[in-house]
Amino acid sequence: MNTRFARRMGSVRPSTIREILKVTEQADIISFAGGLPAPELFPVAEILTATERVLREGGAAALQYGPSEGYAPLRESFAAESRRRGIDCTADDILIMTGSQQPLDLVSKIFLDAGDCVLTENPTYMAALQAFQCYECRFASVPMDEGGLIPEALPELIEREKPRFLYTIPNFQNPTGVTLTAERRRALYSIAARYGILVVEDDPYGALRYAGEKIPPVKSLDTEGIVLYHSTISKTIAPGLRIGWVVAPEEIRRKLTIAKQASDLHTSSLDQRIVHRYLSDFDSDAHVERIRQSYGERFSIMETVLRETMPPGFTWTRPEGGMFLWVTCPEGVDTSELMLEALKQKVLFVPGRDFFPDASGQRFMRLNFSNASPEKIRVGIGRLAEVCRAAVAQAV
Ligand SMILES: Cc1ncc(COP(=O)(O)O)c(C=O)c1O
Repeated sequence: MNTRFARRMGSVRPSTIREILKVTEQADIISFAGGLPAPELFPVAEILTATERVLREGGAAALQYGPSEGYAPLRESFAAESRRRGIDCTADDILIMTGSQQPLDLVSKIFLDAGDCVLTENPTYMAALQAFQCYECRFASVPMDEGGLIPEALPELIEREKPRFLYTIPNFQNPTGVTLTAERRRALYSIAARYGILVVEDDPYGALRYAGEKIPPVKSLDTEGIVLYHSTISKTIAPGLRIGWVVAPEEIRRKLTIAKQASDLHTSSLDQRIVHRYLSDFDSDAHVERIRQSYGERFSIMETVLRETMPPGFTWTRPEGGMFLWVTCPEGVDTSELMLEALKQKVLFVPGRDFFPDASGQRFMRLNFSNASPEKIRVGIGRLAEVCRAAVAQAV
């Protein structure tokens, strides 16, 4: 067999996280690596009831092919949810997606030719880089600080690199946990509108705020039709259902629908109906509130133990929501090596390198605080601090 793969696969880096996740299946490892929700908080009984109702009351339709745009009542539910977030839209503006990952693929499919540039935050969500790289793009990075990407850097980057779109995760960004301030959202939007640049706004974590004030999405400012907003139920209900949605201007929606037809025809009819039934029949707000409470507690335990145990020279972000915090190590520490040492002590994190388009960022690590129990967080961070202490001693 001739295994000459397409040129586009040459530049796509494998996902360290997916490789790491295989290791975490060993029971005695404490993992802060994956972006996994807490499994004990999944609404299993409610999903069971919703599934039963869907199958009993309309089983044939749930097992039949459906429209590529998605199940109409679920499009209504997501339009209502998007309006609650400040986005002016109706069900017609919504497309149902197979998770929030699928729009990253489809938007690349419809906008990127080989060699085209994508502007991203630096660092950014690794699987977005993978999705974009499959279309042989190049990257330009927008610098960030604790207030998110720095809009003042955009005009020069846009003029020089002529990007096809800007990809941003404004709420509790993956991997840093940082949130784009309201003022910067306005500045970003007005620069994007001035240059006529598409903004791809990825918002999986916005509903998971533990502190501070909600900030409306960039899409809420979108009078020009230049923002594609997407979100997901993966972090608020369950990722295994693979349901997300897009709010996009009509012209883009039409092209996305064609691209989706070519990709998977439509998102699972059964899963869409289960999610719709769950949202209609149960108190999903109360469920999200439980998650918020629990993750907020886990974050503060992790932060406290980090403060108590980490050696001097290590700093970290203090996100007001989401699932991750981002640790900066002293100069000379390489977190890819640190990870191997941590693994020996049966604790895991993701090294920062994978989140940078140019694979820089050796000094960083991403820690997830949603998946491990409070007890495991205490034990695991203690072990990690020991590994860090040893690394610093070696680096000097
Ligand atoms: C920023 C970001 N976008 C998209 C996704 C994909 O989410 P989904 O499970 O909805 O496909 C994730 C998952 O971790 C994410 O962190």
